[in-house]
Amino acid sequence: PRSLRAHAETAGLLVGCAVVPDRLSGEPAYGSLVADQANILVAENAMKWQALRPSPDKFDFRGGDELLAFAAAHGQKVRGHNLCWHEALPSWFAGTVTKENAQGFLIQHIQTVAGHFAGKLHSWDVVNEAVDPKSGRADGLRVSPWLEMIGPDYIELAFHAARQADPAALLTYNDYGIENDGADSREKRGQVMMLVRRLKARGVPIDAVGIQSHLTVNDPMPGAGLIDFVRELGRMGLQVFITELDANEHKVEGSVAERDAAVARLYRDYVTMMVAEPNVTAVLTWGITDRYTWLNGQKTARPDGKPQRCLPFDSDDQPVPAFFALRDAIDTR
Ligand code: G3I
Repeated sequence: PRSLRAHAETAGLLVGCAVVPDRLSGEPAYGSLVADQANILVAENAMKWQALRPSPDKFDFRGGDELLAFAAAHGQKVRGHNLCWHEALPSWFAGTVTKENAQGFLIQHIQTVAGHFAGKLHSWDVVNEAVDPKSGRADGLRVSPWLEMIGPDYIELAFHAARQADPAALLTYNDYGIENDGADSREKRGQVMMLVRRLKARGVPIDAVGIQSHLTVNDPMPGAGLIDFVRELGRMGLQVFITELDANEHKVEGSVAERDAAVARLYRDYVTMMVAEPNVTAVLTWGITDRYTWLNGQKTARPDGKPQRCLPFDSDDQPVPAFFALRDAIDTR
């Protein structure tokens, strides 16, 4: 079938997926699937602190460079993920980074990493997952190493450093659990909006919000509340990227055909609704083939132990109903 990429290019959209750079050259079938289907890529792990920082004074850009070379060879854009997060920190982090030097480490990381890739990226997830309603803080911020060591200003420091190091990349705040119309999601979405408003009011350089979109079949549907959020961001001049789309089907019983139909319906309804908004400009899935999805991990696996069928291609790289649903949704743009 004609590719997601071909349909997205007709529609004027970016579509793509998270990838593991080693596999692009190491597994020809995976490389050609990614080359055919995506016009934008993001590293699932290769540009996180843990991957880039083997020791406090060394940077290892091999994974990111390999990704950039592949993308350049195939005419694809690349998103950077991410510059500042409370997870995927190297093992030396705790003990080396302290209240006294944390701000220096963060700024130096951003100068070095965003500087290394400067001019080559579509966008950076500058700060990832900084909001947590369960923190109980009035500002909604997550109690993370960055918050504890630097204070709430770490967010704006990170954005300013990123703009300085790479003026061309669209600077993005990226978060999860803000998509559907359930109470938890509504609350967190409100706190993300508060954060973005604070940043804008203080002149912080932010260009986009990433809505991760790790959706779960049979959860409350994303709906009017999310669209209001997207439109309000639009009025503030911000783009919106769907950055990590997949559909956890751990609550779906029945045959493979029934499971695939439920996943496909969610892809169709969600993406159709989102791409009707002009400031939604990119749709990336978190992986491309079910062979490599994070959703088979302990916390998210199916209770019956069957592998998740959550992405546009199954574990044999064959397109599943979600592929056709996503392609049709792109066509509605
Ligand atoms: O790199 C080491 C490797 O050296 C070691 O041998 C191996 C043994 O466990 O671990 C490897 O690191 C793992 C890494 O993935 C690369 O495979 C980590 O343990 C594992 O925790 C890590 O998981 C990733 C997770 O983020 C944490 O960084 C997942 O693959 C990745 O899908 C997930 O992605 C996140 C996004 O960044 C942010 N949004 C949510 C999303 C899903 O959790």
